[in-house]
Amino acid sequence: MKSYNIAVIKGDGIGPEIVDEAIKVLDAACKGEDIELNYEEYLMGGCAYDATGNPLPQETIDGAKKSDAILFGAIGGEKWDTLDRHLRPESGLLRFRSELGVFANLRPTNVFDELLDASTIKPEVLKGVDLFVVRELTGGIYFGQPREKLEDMAYNTMVYTKEEIRRIAVVAFESAMKRRKEVCSVDKANVLEVSQLWRETVEEVALDYPEVKLSHMYVDNCAMQLVRNPRQFDVILTGNIFGDILSDEASMISGSIGLLPSASVGGLVGLFEPIHGSAPDIAGQGISNPIATVMSAAMMLRFALGEDKVANKIEKAVANVLRDGYRTKDLAEYGAKEVCSTTKMGSIIADYVAKI
Ligand code: IPM
Ligand code: MN
Repeated sequence: MKSYNIAVIKGDGIGPEIVDEAIKVLDAACKGEDIELNYEEYLMGGCAYDATGNPLPQETIDGAKKSDAILFGAIGGEKWDTLDRHLRPESGLLRFRSELGVFANLRPTNVFDELLDASTIKPEVLKGVDLFVVRELTGGIYFGQPREKLEDMAYNTMVYTKEEIRRIAVVAFESAMKRRKEVCSVDKANVLEVSQLWRETVEEVALDYPEVKLSHMYVDNCAMQLVRNPRQFDVILTGNIFGDILSDEASMISGSIGLLPSASVGGLVGLFEPIHGSAPDIAGQGISNPIATVMSAAMMLRFALGEDKVANKIEKAVANVLRDGYRTKDLAEYGAKEVCSTTKMGSIIADYVAKI
């Protein structure tokens, strides 16, 4: 029997309800596979601030570092928006990523044929989209010094070292080798020195991957191309803030931000979370979509635990559940045979997983 320790951080808003469903599905998927997952819960975000005065308690950092992988829900909410920046839930998450050293954020976007109508973009533009954003996560303007807010001016600094660019580029090229062997590196090299270094360094890394076709694109053009013709992309390699923006944009290709998972890897322990936020406005109503978190759990099995077979089972079950017309409320208008609550959706996916 293989046994893994999973640190579970449910967070705020809909975080707890979607993570509970992901755990339900994980347990169903591991059953009969000789894999045991042991879960340990930790606090982070607004709930951690309320309980301890700190959005990222030391106990959470220590527990997470000892685990084999971290399953994360979502954090934040209006309630904590007026706190000083360093006490806000978002600061806790950024510090957490940095503490763990998870510099590579992987955000896949695919379309399910059954949901082609759910997007605001025309179905014929979307059909067959399968792209993979590799976003640098622990550098760039999010972390650069100096930064300060004064009375009448404020500033942040965009910094990348060559080494930071090199290691994220390697992740993008390695990802491309397992896919369609194309990398589009996105920057703003017509304006920013940081982007010029980015481009040069990516070119150097490309020399080690002669099979991969590398192209460069300015970020403003990329934002436009994602809507115009998203099928042109395989792997998109980009920095922290550009990746933040482009991956939200890319998520709309799949029809609902409630579908898309992410993995943050490359550090001590991998962190797996849906790309959406904590949606406090719908928390506790049983209408949130747990699929993004379920798919993040599948990424956890693949990228942190090396359990590809179990990960595939979960992804297949989700595809089949959608094919058979089960929808949470966010997708109720698109081919629903049955509109399910959050817990019902989790249970149905778990049933399907058990049958694979
Ligand atoms: C994300 C989020 C975070 C980010 C916020 C909550 C700090 O938007 O994971 O994309 O900007 O990285
Ligand atoms: Mn974001």
